[in-house]
Amino acid sequence: MNSAPVRVCIRLLRYLAFIIILILSVAALLIFMNTPKDPTVTNSSKYLDTTLSVDERIEDLLAQMTMAEKIGQMALVEKNSLSDVGDIATYGLGAVLSGAGAKPEDNTVEGWSEMIAGFQTEAKKSRLQIPLLYGVDAVHGHAMIPNATVFPHQIGLGATGDADLVQAIGEATAKDLVTSGVNWNYAPNLDLPIDIRWGRMYEAFSDDPLLTARLGAAYVRGLQATSTTGKIPVLATLKHFTGVGSMQWNSSLNKNYKLDQGVTEADAKLLQSTYLPPFKAAIDAGALSVMIGLHMWGDGKMIANKDIITGELKNNLGFTGFVVSDWYGLYENAGNKFMATVRGINAGVDMVMLPFDYRTFIRHMTWANRLGLISDSRIDDATRRILRAKFTLGLFDGDMTVSPVLAQHRELSRQAVAQSLVLLKNDVKVLPLQPTVSHIRVAGSAADNIGLQSGAWTVEWQGVDGNWLPGATSILDGIKKQVSLNTNVEYSLTGEFITAVKKVPLGIAVVGETPYAEGWGDREYPILSNEDLTAIKNLQASCDNVVVVIVSGRPLLIANEVGSWDTLVAAWLPGTEGIGVADVLFGKKQFMGTLPVPWPASSEQLPMTHTGETADGTPVLFPRYTGLAY
Ligand code: BGC
Repeated sequence: MNSAPVRVCIRLLRYLAFIIILILSVAALLIFMNTPKDPTVTNSSKYLDTTLSVDERIEDLLAQMTMAEKIGQMALVEKNSLSDVGDIATYGLGAVLSGAGAKPEDNTVEGWSEMIAGFQTEAKKSRLQIPLLYGVDAVHGHAMIPNATVFPHQIGLGATGDADLVQAIGEATAKDLVTSGVNWNYAPNLDLPIDIRWGRMYEAFSDDPLLTARLGAAYVRGLQATSTTGKIPVLATLKHFTGVGSMQWNSSLNKNYKLDQGVTEADAKLLQSTYLPPFKAAIDAGALSVMIGLHMWGDGKMIANKDIITGELKNNLGFTGFVVSDWYGLYENAGNKFMATVRGINAGVDMVMLPFDYRTFIRHMTWANRLGLISDSRIDDATRRILRAKFTLGLFDGDMTVSPVLAQHRELSRQAVAQSLVLLKNDVKVLPLQPTVSHIRVAGSAADNIGLQSGAWTVEWQGVDGNWLPGATSILDGIKKQVSLNTNVEYSLTGEFITAVKKVPLGIAVVGETPYAEGWGDREYPILSNEDLTAIKNLQASCDNVVVVIVSGRPLLIANEVGSWDTLVAAWLPGTEGIGVADVLFGKKQFMGTLPVPWPASSEQLPMTHTGETADGTPVLFPRYTGLAY
């Protein structure tokens, strides 16, 4: 037997054993040094004293919290992922959310109130009885509840340019949320979309940072309008931080998407001049939570970008609220969940929308802390920020439940719809329409479909179809309400009428997009469907004049067709008050809206630049802020 190789092997094995023992000893030492010396359980209830300042109350509570309790506060769990509702108290979870479409079985305001009160009761069973934040995406009103008022999606509010109106909508939304027990809204959206191919354009106000800043701040003031006690009713969330809307086509890491969750070029100049200012304005208006986008900033995930999250947002903009990650987003920044947690939390994420597996998160956080990979002070900072929001909401100050009654904001929303309409063409001065007109033919996919005119994030994530939302009016309903008793209003989805041989004075084509949310709405060519184009043609053949109303979440590619239309109105996604559209068509109200984004002439012009111009200098179909009047 050759003994030399055997000796070498034995020596190598010894080295290996030595290295392993060394690593284990260092880890054990680190764990020993970092095992939290949790506070002896004191029973100070100073933090419940409303005469003390928020800072004093935070420090009193923080000083009593164990490391496990602090880590629990950093977890945000989707309600359907709570494997045991008792876990809320066991782990001291900080927050629960209803992901879009995650409604209580009884999807009424009473059902919501009861469900959330149940979760809060669980939170009260924890040692320090820290109440929960409960979050939803009420991005155009509390639209998960079928009989709630659904306001126009943000792009329509951008078209109004009216900060007072947006503030009033924020306030109305807060009322509906509070009455159902929700204290946290994932709105407003401050993305700056420059590409109509993106499926989330309608969630934003505009591509203009100045308009977005003005309206975003107004929404925060409305949603967080302080009561006489100085408490805010609902926490706003500024999303999605930052540079979202500038992702490049085909860059999405999500294999189902093209643009959503894609790559934004890491442009330091644009960051300062364009992406940050809307966040600054809304933070100055009092926003206390900011959600980080699921996109990439250059070659790294934004969620792990310490320079921007901690450096720009927290240090430079002076944000004292908490940073929350988006849906599972924390885990997308590294190959494994443990390292992704370490990187994300150290970059400055304070609360994690897990949203599923909170037990693993808590285990990873505990080990990362014991190994010294996430410091005590980082966790204290995160907890402080979360508690600041909770104290500012008044969550510790007595029973928050109010009787669950949904207010009706129909008039406010109707007004918003009217103000959001943009008149783009009125060549033969067909508008305003005469209520006494003898005969009107109405056609198109969006004419009589409240689900469609409301868009996504209505009852379900991807929206709904049809006319079953109680109290709502379709655009056709609105038209019927505006005309004289003698007017004959005929409706056909396709624009085909039995009586079509005889021409009538007026046709109204209400055409548009079917609802979509997030990357499911990414489209290389956002165009009208063949069915809608045919409906327009059918009306043109059987009516003297035709008004085209487009119901869509973004400008569509219409350059080939628009020449044959005399009259064109952009109605965005108006929500449940279709009657607001008819108010303006029939001249009861004036056209006041202007395009919040430029309307491109062709797909070659995409993406646009951040000044509202095309990159190649070719003219768009309608520039930003176009809007005719009567
Ligand atoms: C979206 C966020 C939303 C969150 C919670 C995510 O998919 O990107 O905008 O707030 O889900 O529903």
